[in-house]
Amino acid sequence: MKFDTKVVRAGITPDPTTGSIVPPIYETATYVLDEVGKDKGFDYTRSTNPTRQVLEANLAAIEGGAHGICYASGMAAVDSCMKLLSAGDHVVCSDDVYGGVSRHFNKVLTRYGLSFTYVDSSEPETVRQAIRPETRMLWIETPTNPLLKVTDLHAMSTIAKEHGLYLGVDSTFATPVFLRPLEFGVDIVMHSTTKYLSGHNQLIGGVVVTDREDIHEAMKFVQKTIGAVPSPFDCWLTLLGLKTLHLRMARHAASAQRVAEYLESHPKVRSVTYPGLPSHPQHDIAKAQMSGFSGMISFELEGGIAAGTAVMNNVELMGLAESLGAVESMITHPATMTHAEVPDEERRARGLSDGLVRLSVGIEDVDDILADLDQALAKA
Ligand SMILES: Cc1ncc(COP(=O)(O)O)c(C=O)c1O
Repeated sequence: MKFDTKVVRAGITPDPTTGSIVPPIYETATYVLDEVGKDKGFDYTRSTNPTRQVLEANLAAIEGGAHGICYASGMAAVDSCMKLLSAGDHVVCSDDVYGGVSRHFNKVLTRYGLSFTYVDSSEPETVRQAIRPETRMLWIETPTNPLLKVTDLHAMSTIAKEHGLYLGVDSTFATPVFLRPLEFGVDIVMHSTTKYLSGHNQLIGGVVVTDREDIHEAMKFVQKTIGAVPSPFDCWLTLLGLKTLHLRMARHAASAQRVAEYLESHPKVRSVTYPGLPSHPQHDIAKAQMSGFSGMISFELEGGIAAGTAVMNNVELMGLAESLGAVESMITHPATMTHAEVPDEERRARGLSDGLVRLSVGIEDVDDILADLDQALAKA
């Protein structure tokens, strides 16, 4: 199957009992055995569920991997990846990860003996220099949330192999439409399926895809032991959302390119960050490893925080909201919303200024998106 066909069909066959073309929602906790020791492949939904199994197969195929493992949230997926590690282990992590990820690492996992060093992973040498004898994993987000830094995955794969490290990539912003990290030798691809993959602001979910049998086995064990699994209904909603992923992403990316170019030429805008602009610091890497630049933009206004706030408070079509990657355009203020819990000093050191505005460009008519920005910018 070609990629677009996989999105619509891979792992999905008509229901064997009824022929239903849409996989049924198996909303059940448990399954009756035929006799002692003889089940039909399912025993308890925390371990496996037919609806979840279809979603896991579909997501694995789209990422080009052997195994998909779904979770109740993107954060549960990240946490489960860290359960591959043990107390005393060290992780080198991209410095501009989603604020919820660094919060989890710093406030929760450090209490269990893991340690983390944050580096600008768009510069491979800084990653190499941060490796210690106890380092076990590189955790890379590309493009990052919200500064859209792009990391060279070939370089990360080389470093990980040299040092015998797990290489995990949070590919939420890129989606498998534009980037398939396993093709670069990555061990674990992770997504918040809350975003583009489900695509309609309808649920919270996460997934991990891997080709490695040992990782799959370990993570399946963690999944069934801890039970951070998505409900069958959420799996079903994700499957429905996924069917148009390729079409949605093409529109997200085309519109984001136009919005980024518009913002870059606007006199009130100081800087625009979008991997599809030649001015983006890693534009060449993005062009080489991604087949499109997705739908996320961040920008800074000449008037700093006051001007940014005026724009965010005056948009009419866009929603002022935390999330991203859905059909509706959304605007976010990272300093007070998604990254509010990153301490002020650390936030500024990361280049995440108080005036930064993040835009998730939806799939409405791009002229309406531009008109909305235009009238909001006029008030800034
Ligand atoms: C890049 C990235 N990774 C992980 C997450 C966490 O996902 P979730 O909100 O589904 O738990 C998010 C959420 O915004 C994100 O943007």
